[in-house]
Amino acid sequence: MGLFEGRAGIVSGAAGGIGRAAAVAFGREGAAVLVADIEAMRPGGEETVRLVEKAGGRAVFRPVDVARADDVRGMVEATVEEFGSLDFAHNNAGVLATGFTADVEEADFDRIMEIDVKGVWLSMKYELLHMMRNGGGTIVNTASEAGLVGTPMAGPYVAAKHAVIGLTRTAAGEYANMGIRVNAVAPGAIASRMVLDLPEAGREMLMAPQPMHRLGTPEEVAESVVFLCSDRASFITGTVLSIDGGATSNAQSYDPALSPAAPTG
Ligand SMILES: NC(=O)c1ccc[n+]([C@@H]2O[C@H](COP(=O)([O-])OP(=O)(O)OC[C@H]3O[C@@H](n4cnc5c(N)ncnc54)[C@H](O)[C@@H]3O)[C@@H](O)[C@H]2O)c1
Repeated sequence: MGLFEGRAGIVSGAAGGIGRAAAVAFGREGAAVLVADIEAMRPGGEETVRLVEKAGGRAVFRPVDVARADDVRGMVEATVEEFGSLDFAHNNAGVLATGFTADVEEADFDRIMEIDVKGVWLSMKYELLHMMRNGGGTIVNTASEAGLVGTPMAGPYVAAKHAVIGLTRTAAGEYANMGIRVNAVAPGAIASRMVLDLPEAGREMLMAPQPMHRLGTPEEVAESVVFLCSDRASFITGTVLSIDGGATSNAQSYDPALSPAAPTG
């Protein structure tokens, strides 16, 4: 019997990358998943639905712009209408724009705040209102390593992900006694479209602070999301789980000269 048998939830930004991996991991545990992403990503969203069903879960795709209140309210209502409950939510949709702080365009700053910050707040707002009426639930927001430390050329994104952690911690405290747990994951550089689309130098820059010195996989993030949403994490709320190959635990960048040599003989 899967951990999420008989339970239903939402994964936003689920047309690919971390969101798709999380939706499939929930499906493998028997969940019903509302796969939310923007209309332009419908083919990817429908592919995620197919993969969730193949993994043993149920799923529907719904076009949602998480920056629009009506869309987000509709996303929550549709989950309950389609599956009968809303037990968990992974608020994962996000965008990145790069550039030094003085060079970032105002429109890019606004877009990141609308999607990465307001989108998470709106999602939590309507999810919490429902979960309060229904005696509980679990929420995991996708923050980032960039929510814990500064990252060159990503000022607005760093600010947005710090805000996601602030929203997570605050809601965790506010709703702890209503049977609702709220946590965040803070991935390092993960092999999704967001990172694979960057030029080689950009990917190398992101991997440099990671002692493991490789890109993480969306599946490695998904495992933590499912754990935090599950009853196995029943006393965990307000936490930010780093999944970053050691990046935020070390001040030293990756340097092979600082790794011990394997013992010989
Ligand atoms: N890839 C990484 O290295 C990394 C690291 C830390 C955090 N993250 C975060 O992980 C999350 C998922 O990103 P990913 O790495 O899978 O990249 P991705 O680009 O594959 O996924 C992001 C998804 O969000 C969707 N999205 C964008 N705007 C939206 C909107 N307004 N409404 C609904 N959906 C929208 C996109 O269409 C896309 O499917 C993001 O929040 C990102 O900031 C990624």
